Amino acid sequence: MTPVIPGKVREIRLARVPEGLPGRGDFTVAEVPPPVPDAGQVLVRNRHFLVFAALRTLIGGEVEDAPLPPLRPGDPLFGPAVGEVVTAPEGGALRPGDTVLHMAGWREYAVLPPEQCTRLDGALPDPAAHLGQGAVAYGALTRAAEVRAGDTVLVTGAAGAVGSSAGSVARLLGAGRVVGSTGSAWKADRLTAELGYDAVVLRGAGSFAARLAEAAPQGVDVVLDTVGGEQLAAAVQVARHGARFALVGALRGQLSPQGAGGTAPVELDGYRLILKGISLRGYTGADHPGVDAEWSARFGSRLRSGEIPFPSTRIAGLAQAPQAFEDLLAGHHFGTVVVDL
Ligand SMILES: NC(=O)c1ccc[n+]([C@@H]2O[C@H](COP(=O)([O-])OP(=O)(O)OC[C@H]3O[C@@H](n4cnc5c(N)ncnc54)[C@H](OP(=O)(O)O)[C@@H]3O)[C@@H](O)[C@H]2O)c1
Repeated sequence: MTPVIPGKVREIRLARVPEGLPGRGDFTVAEVPPPVPDAGQVLVRNRHFLVFAALRTLIGGEVEDAPLPPLRPGDPLFGPAVGEVVTAPEGGALRPGDTVLHMAGWREYAVLPPEQCTRLDGALPDPAAHLGQGAVAYGALTRAAEVRAGDTVLVTGAAGAVGSSAGSVARLLGAGRVVGSTGSAWKADRLTAELGYDAVVLRGAGSFAARLAEAAPQGVDVVLDTVGGEQLAAAVQVARHGARFALVGALRGQLSPQGAGGTAPVELDGYRLILKGISLRGYTGADHPGVDAEWSARFGSRLRSGEIPFPSTRIAGLAQAPQAFEDLLAGHHFGTVVVDL
């Protein structure tokens, strides 16, 4: 049967490069003719896409060394998405109806080469859960920080997409005590009640370092850092001898209204790093292409059963996406933020 495709489809575009943090007014919802695949391409109807903090850096344009290209005014936004194949090249691996993961989010329909679509075999009960960042947490905790049984683990930015998975992943990998940080008391409550965190430190007024020392009185062995700034500096102060730090994100610099979100300077106590034999290792998923498959093979059944949770905020409708992004940057959301189409 020939698929019915509307005469106009919608996508979110960058309207202008903002001064400071982006807001919903910096984006437009454009109505465009549907994309037409050529003979070698796949047409995908998107069902879910990810709203993510790193978009701020792509919009700011400071992407040197980053795994993704910058966005310019007029460009459609992009990022991880889950969709359904509408048409695919004859004789290829993909078929109409297949569910695929790809990078052309923020639009209703996408045209892609087949090699840029990952078919979701053994898909999770909620296909949007494929937008979760558990594999990043798993990769960081196994490749960069090498968590061991009984370790005390600190996760900064614990209520975000990466951090909300990291508590349960750390537990599955044998962590003893898991401490997180967040910006809101209501998020701290959810992290301890639902997501395996033993204690949560609030950022904001007063000394973060003093509050962290109270939450981790015996110190920390592993740090999964998504924030940087004073939180990373404080983690060095409470680190135990031989502590391993996985540096995954830089929200403090990325979400600062000053600058373009492409740098994250921080002053660390170098003397403490030496005396405690601390290792700091940067981690990006792009440098570890085998991690996603290992994560699924090792924990796929627990993801499917819900034993590993998928904490998410769901937003209905493409037109709400710019507001969802503004709210994400302001710290109003919890877990992975997904727009459902
Ligand atoms: N290395 C990799 O492969 C990889 C993969 C994915 C993501 N990342 C990076 O990891 C980081 C976290 O990503 P994510 O998707 O999980 O983002 P996210 O945590 O969902 O980002 C939004 C959250 O950042 C927090 N925030 C806002 N302003 C802040 C500030 N000034 N200081 C500290 N926190 C602030 C807020 O949470 P609270 O209110 O709870 O503080 C907000 O809800 C990002 O830097 C991202 O680029 C890296």
